[in-house]
Amino acid sequence: MHELQTRFEAEVAAAGDAAALDAVRVAALGKSGEITQLLKTLGKMDPETRKVEGPKIHAVREAVQAAITHKKDALEQAELDARLATERLDLSLPTDTGPKGSIHPVSQVMDELAEIFADLGFAVAEGPEVEDDWHNFTALNIPEAHPARAMQDTFYVEAGEGETPLVLRTHTSPVQIRTMMSGKPPFRIIAPGRVYRSDSDATHTPMFHQVEGLVIDKNIHLGHLKWTLETFLKAFFERDDVVLRMRPSYFPFTEPSAEVDVGWSTEKGRRVVGGSEGWMEVLGSGMVHPKVIEACGLDPNEWQGFAFGCGIDRLAMLKYGMDDLRAFFDGDLRWLRHYGFRFLDVPTLSAGVGA
Ligand code: PHE
Repeated sequence: MHELQTRFEAEVAAAGDAAALDAVRVAALGKSGEITQLLKTLGKMDPETRKVEGPKIHAVREAVQAAITHKKDALEQAELDARLATERLDLSLPTDTGPKGSIHPVSQVMDELAEIFADLGFAVAEGPEVEDDWHNFTALNIPEAHPARAMQDTFYVEAGEGETPLVLRTHTSPVQIRTMMSGKPPFRIIAPGRVYRSDSDATHTPMFHQVEGLVIDKNIHLGHLKWTLETFLKAFFERDDVVLRMRPSYFPFTEPSAEVDVGWSTEKGRRVVGGSEGWMEVLGSGMVHPKVIEACGLDPNEWQGFAFGCGIDRLAMLKYGMDDLRAFFDGDLRWLRHYGFRFLDVPTLSAGVGA
């Protein structure tokens, strides 16, 4: 065997890591490595000698190259084995979970609403919070300069010359309009979301949440409205003794209109929904005004329905016992820890909407 082959094979065998092995490679096969130099001598040999020496030198180069490749694989495998032996993870060890977030009661109640109304065949609809004047008022039978505009303290958004006036929507009712105009009847939707009014005290914040309900179909009457509200409120408060009272009222977009009260009673010194010791108002409702149906391009002789609007924050306060609405939006972590719900630990409605 060639002396170089013997020597380099021994050096390869002795190389303890990748760096040492690479040093051997450079010394043997690098640009000025010994085997490379030897290969260069072939050019100066006479043809007869080259015929004999050529294959020998090439064989040396191939043998050393093969030894290096083989050793490289072996070193890599050894390194992997070492890592596998030392870097073992014990997946059964307890971990530091860090601070946990919680689900805001408003989000929780929105989920509950979606769940209840899904059982009744309602889809969830959405609309923009910066709304145009037409959807928020005009199409809802509140023409310009109508005194009903003053019922809600509106935030106006500056619009450019000749542009449609914009408002922060004062209620979720414009979603009724958007729903009717963008699809084909029948409709059964709820529209939960943020609304804005210039108002602030313990029970009013400039931003709050409402859920709108809308049903448009043929032969819909007040009885459907009453049943739907009763079924919804019983499922939401998880009590069968929820009693409703409908009082005649006025909304420009419904005719007839009714405000709905629920009965309350006292339990352990606290006022709870259920029973009928007293009444409190929870929502506004009515049969959708023919003018509204017409404004959406539908024939009011063919299609009727009912609508209702309800404060979500107020529902949360009544169900989960908070008494200051402003705390909902202060972002105080102590409040959130107390009133928030834990993910995967949220109370599910015990019964849903039973038949
Ligand atoms: N949009 C009304 C409000 O904000 C509530 C309502 C909705 C009343 C639908 C009737 C029908 O006060």
